[in-house]
Amino acid sequence: MTKEYVELIYQGKTYKFPVILGTEGEKAFDISNLRQSTGGLITMDPGFANTGSCCSSITYMNGEKGILKYRGIPIEQLAKYSSFKETGYLLVNGALPTRKELNRFSVLLNDQSLVHEDMHTFFQNFPRGSHPMGILSSMVNALRGFYPELQTLEEEINITVTRLLSKIRTLAAMSYKISRGYSVVYPRPDLSYCANFLNMMFDNVVKPYHIDKDVVRALNVFWILHADHEQNCSTSAVRMVGSGRVNLYAAISAGIAALWGPLHGGANQAVIEMLAEIVERGDSVKTIIKKAKDKNDPYRLMGFGHRVYKTYDPRAKIMKEMCDKVLAKLDIHDSLLDIAKELEEVALNDDYFIERNLYPNVDFYSGIILRAIGIPTNMFTVMFAIGRLPGWIAQWKESMDGPNWKLQRPRQIFIGPPEKEYIPIDERK
Ligand code: SDX
Repeated sequence: MTKEYVELIYQGKTYKFPVILGTEGEKAFDISNLRQSTGGLITMDPGFANTGSCCSSITYMNGEKGILKYRGIPIEQLAKYSSFKETGYLLVNGALPTRKELNRFSVLLNDQSLVHEDMHTFFQNFPRGSHPMGILSSMVNALRGFYPELQTLEEEINITVTRLLSKIRTLAAMSYKISRGYSVVYPRPDLSYCANFLNMMFDNVVKPYHIDKDVVRALNVFWILHADHEQNCSTSAVRMVGSGRVNLYAAISAGIAALWGPLHGGANQAVIEMLAEIVERGDSVKTIIKKAKDKNDPYRLMGFGHRVYKTYDPRAKIMKEMCDKVLAKLDIHDSLLDIAKELEEVALNDDYFIERNLYPNVDFYSGIILRAIGIPTNMFTVMFAIGRLPGWIAQWKESMDGPNWKLQRPRQIFIGPPEKEYIPIDERK
């Protein structure tokens, strides 16, 4: 708390609300007792753009300056020096691991990498063409049936956390293989977290998968950049569902479902579909920009704009640099990248986008990298979910610790009809 407060004058009375000061100088005024002290007054903030749901020690974003830090460490340093496994440990446990802790974490992840054989039949019974995000959300929820132990003691929570972090890769790779009628490739204890996933996805008896260290590095960075992002839509869903005291699998399953939408994590798939459509229809970039600006057209420039970033998303900057590196290494020329760069160039010089602070976000270039790696477009958001899992878990753990664990239940203002009588059906007009 600071010594500052906000005064509210309402119906001739003055109310004071204390101001909270964050590590980076952010301020909020605490209205926890607003309704009670004013006799029923509540706030209204559709979309919660001006509302803080919690105090958190996990991630910090500055939307005006394009800053992103996990547990105080700038994303640029983690992308340059860390691995996804190490960053996941940092987010979940609050500090970078010692070498001994990281080795122990690796052993636990390996121990937990297999999924119960009975889950194979689950995959086979999804209707062909089911979206991988729907499958993943269902399968994560189903894990509870196989691992029903409580999640009250620290040890039980740690095992559940490591199990989820490890198994989500296996589940994602299995859904890909089974959806194509290929045999499942099992995790290998000799491979790193990211290399294991790539091998499970692409290895096969006809053509063994060649693990390229630059592709493994690109996947590490891709998942580091997605690992957490304050109280975004899907993280808020995890906290909201978790606040009812459900198990971690159910809370994460809700997060996966929330991430699926094209305005949120589904944007990476929508960007590639948008770019591919531009190529297929032979549209000019100018035509696309005009459509995106047209108030009467619901069309939006996918991968552009952000609720918090009002400047270039720092993750998009790193992702864009990585596109060039990965495509050069794999000797791929992707015409969609050329279109994306041209779209960015035109948009960033257009008053409509400038006035609204619309810049590329994490999803604008990420799909180009996934395409180059060989990930199918309908699995792009699954890749986002795997990356975001450590963040969701860290946020779930934080919201469950100590006094924060309150059931989340927003209020509303009723604007429906005034009271009226029930009319028996034969008297209705
Ligand atoms: C993610 O929250 C997070 O942290 C999310 C995320 C994470 O890591 O968890 O960063 C991941 O979800 C990134 C965002 C991915 N979504 C997209 O790329 C979809 C396209 N972008 C938009 O739909 C939009 O920008 C949102 C949803 C991301 C943010 O929208 P807001 O904050 O609700 O803003 P808004 O819709 O009210 O837009 C403000 C203005 C409007 O114009 P006016 O009414 O003022 O004239 O900007 C316009 C909008 O029409 N606008 C766009 C646009 N985004 C906003 N116009 C054209 N194209 C766009 N992409």
